Amino acid sequence: MSHVDEHEGTRRDFLYYATGGAGAVAAGAAVWPLVNQMNPSADVQALSSIRVDVSGVETGTQLTVKWLGKPVFIRRRTQEEIDAARAVDLSALPDQIARNENLGDAVEASDENRAMDESGEWLVMMGVCTHLGCVPLGDGAGDFGGWFCPCHGSHYDTAGRIRKGPAPENLPVPVAAFDGDEIVLG
Ligand code: FES
Repeated sequence: MSHVDEHEGTRRDFLYYATGGAGAVAAGAAVWPLVNQMNPSADVQALSSIRVDVSGVETGTQLTVKWLGKPVFIRRRTQEEIDAARAVDLSALPDQIARNENLGDAVEASDENRAMDESGEWLVMMGVCTHLGCVPLGDGAGDFGGWFCPCHGSHYDTAGRIRKGPAPENLPVPVAAFDGDEIVLG
């Protein structure tokens, strides 16, 4: 390839990208107002209630789904996790309220009042630290074998209750119900 060809090749590429770029900007500008107008109602409708198939969730694992723009942890707990959560003396809890939207305000923070089912196998809660909103790490993290928020060191137990650190409240349990193999949030 001669020096002249190389130069022309480079110049053609430049022109091509410049043209492509201008086209993309113009198309984007035309599309945005329409998307902006459609987004609010479409979002609200799509997200106010969601169904999550949990048939593939193995014992001892957690599924994280996004709902209303926030993560929701759906954990299928092992018997050890359930036993550990149920053995806790409730007077030792920093937050003694269940924080379960399905049960109302003044219910004590027993494991039974936070789990979805009687056996305690399923725990569903918002994955948002009650301190300043980070997403806690799961899978047995922290000093209490549940979740740990690395932002400022909040430790949650296997029922998602705050045990140590600056977070003031237990991880909130959202409105949730079983429908066959699915969990319906909202
Ligand atoms: Fe979780 Fe501060 S946001 S400890």
